Amino acid sequence: MELIVARNRDDLVKARAGGEVALVPTMGALHEGHRSLIRLARARADQVVVSIFVNPLQFGPSEDFSRYPRTFDADLEVCRAEGVDVVFYPSAEDMYHPDRQVSLLSGRMGEVVEGASRPGHFDGVLTVVLKLFNLVQPHVAIFGQKDAQQLALIRRMVADLDVPVEIVGAPTVREPDGLALSSRNRYLSEADRQVALALSRALRAGAAQPTPSEIRAAARAVLDAAGPELDVDYLVLVDPATFTEVGESYAGEAVLAVAARVGSTRLIDNVTLTLN
Ligand code: PAJ
Repeated sequence: MELIVARNRDDLVKARAGGEVALVPTMGALHEGHRSLIRLARARADQVVVSIFVNPLQFGPSEDFSRYPRTFDADLEVCRAEGVDVVFYPSAEDMYHPDRQVSLLSGRMGEVVEGASRPGHFDGVLTVVLKLFNLVQPHVAIFGQKDAQQLALIRRMVADLDVPVEIVGAPTVREPDGLALSSRNRYLSEADRQVALALSRALRAGAAQPTPSEIRAAARAVLDAAGPELDVDYLVLVDPATFTEVGESYAGEAVLAVAARVGSTRLIDNVTLTLN
């Protein structure tokens, strides 16, 4: 089957083939993490749609929107190799009408942790994801656990607004040395990369501990030992459904999440662990 590139709603309607549709929303610069999502989609549905759109709404004024990697030709090759049926590649003008006014608010969960560092970010994510759902009309959509708060907020949006899409979470794909794959990793020098390994190392050290205070302390010690090249934004141990910090007597699944800057590149990572 020939891969279809759809630029707008009309193209998407023409590309409809019947059967179950799975959507994998991305901002392109596709890597093994994205590929794992595409494979899950392939296993779940008759037609796989990958969207590639660097969403201006989710970048702050001082963030890396203009420098975000754009590698469309290579992305198309990845999609072809993975048996994707449709690549949805809209322009910003098609997605955002100059007169647009209505958008989503992510609420309290959008204002904590990653949302505290990136005001408005999750409002922009939810707005574009709901638009993608309305355009593509998928039965199922796949999101990575790498962006755990994003995944939690999309589940919240689907529940709160009765969006008729099944949300599937996918495990984080890592390099052999532990570094979580990210489109932004290409900006790391070899020296930066060594510093960046402290993130996943800290999460592993934390996850080996039994209690919230010991988890936080063990992870923090690894981050501190990485030295001044690692500029830590946050390290939190939170309830995965609300992203609020868990107390010492908390039982159940928790997410240990970290964000840090290495040089000018901001990285995030997390692990899920079970507390009893
Ligand atoms: P992007 O950063 O391109 O990520 C697209 C999807 O790939 C997300 O669901 C993300 O969690 C997942 N992903 C990224 N790195 C991964 C890894 N190492 N292992 C597994 N999955 C990984 O997230 C976005 O784009 C945007 O916010 C988007 C949802 C497309 C809305 O604009």
